[in-house]
Amino acid sequence: MTLGVVVLAAGQGTRMRSALPKVLHPAAGIPLVEHVTRLADAVGAARIVLVLSADTLEPVRARLGERYQYVVQPERLGTGHAVQQARAALAGRADEVLVLYGADPLMRLESVRQLIEARRTTRALAAITTFTATPPAGYGRIVRDASQSIAAIVEERDATPAQRAITEVNQGVAVYAGAWLWPALDRVQPNRGNGEYYLTDLVALALAERGQGAVASIQLADPDEALGVNDRAQLAAVGAILNRRKVHQLLLAGVTVVDPASTYVDVDVAVGIDTILHPGTILRGQTRLGERCSIGPNTLIEDSTLGDGCRASYSVIEQARMDDGANVGPFGHLRKGAHLMENVHMGNFGEVKNATLGPGTKMGHFSYIGDATLGADVNIGAGTITCNFAADGKKYHTEIGDGAFIGSDSLLRAPVSVGAGATTGAGSVVTKDVPAGATAVGMPARVIRSASPAPEDEKPS
Ligand code: UD1
Repeated sequence: MTLGVVVLAAGQGTRMRSALPKVLHPAAGIPLVEHVTRLADAVGAARIVLVLSADTLEPVRARLGERYQYVVQPERLGTGHAVQQARAALAGRADEVLVLYGADPLMRLESVRQLIEARRTTRALAAITTFTATPPAGYGRIVRDASQSIAAIVEERDATPAQRAITEVNQGVAVYAGAWLWPALDRVQPNRGNGEYYLTDLVALALAERGQGAVASIQLADPDEALGVNDRAQLAAVGAILNRRKVHQLLLAGVTVVDPASTYVDVDVAVGIDTILHPGTILRGQTRLGERCSIGPNTLIEDSTLGDGCRASYSVIEQARMDDGANVGPFGHLRKGAHLMENVHMGNFGEVKNATLGPGTKMGHFSYIGDATLGADVNIGAGTITCNFAADGKKYHTEIGDGAFIGSDSLLRAPVSVGAGATTGAGSVVTKDVPAGATAVGMPARVIRSASPAPEDEKPS
């Protein structure tokens, strides 16, 4: 069966009080609506159509790209009217049509599969999702007949006091037989109270047409799945639930999370087994951590890749890479383009930006390395600074060869290079290249000792 999906997202989102469209607000690292489009992708939709308001179309399209189709609902005339906007994209092209809400990111894939299955097995015209809400305020109430079949969905404003007391409510996600949906939608009349075209009126039309069994339903055991976002309090609540789910997944997958309540992990983050996340760890974006790492306490890692056995504590790591066994902190900062190769040790109060530190290199204390390439086993003394930013407003590069020893408080004025095995004295200001093996001291640094000549018996003949 070809499945088409309509994502309803033409709501105004005024209660967000935001310049950003509601559905683009992020939760657990991706926009609300992307949780929904990912769900539609995962359930195997052949076509996915987003219904948006005129002013949200472009920002949403810019974020989600051309994989999806976008239509505008010119006026907010109700959920039935919103689905109508997808007709040209889906009529005759989908055997069944699933309706999802763009700001409800918690529906689980298993539930949507169960819903689709419920309609297929009963050959119903529609299948709806219900749950128990206490209190049920704001939702359409589910009226069942004596045999417990769905008899109607009654919107709150149209409900009698007895109906208002019903706690089984319409969650909103529903699936319809494609051939039946579009002509049926034409028969939906505007509500007499508010002039809106209710999608939920399709239930009454299906029952009138085919009687009992025309509408199947599933009931969500977990009411959290029904939560949607209208304001920032709900955004925070939904974000917390997504985080709990993600942390729980990690726990089951072999990651130790010492304090789930203070650990925040975005949906796309991957963590290897036997890694420990200490309290206050925040893992964002496209971050990948290897096995046996120790992260935190109080560490933020964003869009970065760490190998196996890495350590980071009280540190901030952004768009950076650490290879196996590298460590940073406490109080380190890796910025964009920082690359610590195997077993690099970067201690307290270090900052690295757009620079590679070769395997085994050590910078224990108070250093800034920016726009630089350091070889293997370099020693960076406390307080070393690569002066990469010149008065002309440009950035220049520093090169340090394998095994070089940079004395404490050295200033390396780029562009400059320090050769392999060279030494700079404590407090030297290096403005000229230091040859391999040489020792340079002073301000500006001058070479006082060249590389020692090789002993006679080692000279090439
Ligand atoms: C709807 C259901 C109600 C259900 C509730 C669950 C109808 C008539 N009622 O209520 O039974 O309990 O959802 O949350 O369907 N939207 C548009 N265009 C519109 C109107 C709505 O795109 O003209 C979108 C909204 O952006 C949102 C979704 O449809 O994603 C639901 O709209 P909302 O106003 O929250 O729901 P209600 O219509 O109150």
